[in-house]
Amino acid sequence: MAKNATKQTKKLAILTSGGDSSGMNACIRTAVRYALNKGYEVYGVRHGYVGLIEDDIIEMPYGSVSNCVHTGGTILRTGRTDEFRKPEVVQAAAQNLLKRGINNLIVIGGDGSFHGVSDLHQLTDINVIGIPGTIDNDMGYTDYTIGFDTACNTVLDAMLKLRDTITSHDRIMILEVMGRHCGDIALKTALAGGAEYVILPEAPTDVDAIAASVKKGFDKGKTSTIIVLAEGRNDLKDELREKVKASTGRTVNHVALSYIQRGGTPSMFDRVLASRLAARAVELIECGQSGRVVGVKGSDIIDVNVIEALKAKKNFDDNLFALATTISK
Ligand code: F6P
Repeated sequence: MAKNATKQTKKLAILTSGGDSSGMNACIRTAVRYALNKGYEVYGVRHGYVGLIEDDIIEMPYGSVSNCVHTGGTILRTGRTDEFRKPEVVQAAAQNLLKRGINNLIVIGGDGSFHGVSDLHQLTDINVIGIPGTIDNDMGYTDYTIGFDTACNTVLDAMLKLRDTITSHDRIMILEVMGRHCGDIALKTALAGGAEYVILPEAPTDVDAIAASVKKGFDKGKTSTIIVLAEGRNDLKDELREKVKASTGRTVNHVALSYIQRGGTPSMFDRVLASRLAARAVELIECGQSGRVVGVKGSDIIDVNVIEALKAKKNFDDNLFALATTISK
């Protein structure tokens, strides 16, 4: 809702917060240039909320976002801090914008960053809009977050390479992928990459049954197997490795792709999504809106109240999981 539309000064700041994700720069670029076109002076807060607290704020003219649409990471840098959970810190940090006459802020980040959006909206005079940027795709109100598609493509590329070596050695590979508590990267890449098994936080796992099934596969003539393991179930890694090794008598390797999934040039999907989300965020700022976050449902760009967005439960796609497990063995 509009808070301070009468005081609007046509100044806007942008920050990226939490884990970086590919496409954040495409998002920053569109936000900066679209806002400049609408007559705003645009600023960047470096290192996320840390920079807001520490007054690390720079001006962002047109050329500041040249040559970054294709790059991973975030040109604004990012940060994580628990300090921003304290109301008095949020209020003091907001003064670093307000003292420059900046009363609009766009925050690009995941759910932790959206708590900051909510607090800034409720506790300060800043109009703040959130854009979902995280590889995890763990936010229930939006179909996609910026960086998820690129991270999945990175996993698929790795899977292709791992297949070459496990096929040559007749081995089994446990490929661990990121996603924190969400198994979306694991599920989509297992299906798209033709992995034989996928283990996710959202579905129960029977390690003994998997070990027996891998053996059955080899008995039927399979010569290699990939098991995608979501970060949210990496507590099963050792047990899985031992039991599959015991049942098959073969070498079982484990690779965690880890931070490699966060970097690299963003996919076309992420660049287009990032640009569309950024444009909607600037339009909301232009209308004096605050406390809202943008997202995508189907092919539509949407915006919702940040508190509703934070409450929205991520739906687990049982059908896709069933499909991935049915066709893979
Ligand atoms: O949220 C993105 C993410 O990469 C998760 O997949 C992972 O669990 C986490 O961040 C790692 O965080 P950090 O960069 O603090 O190690």
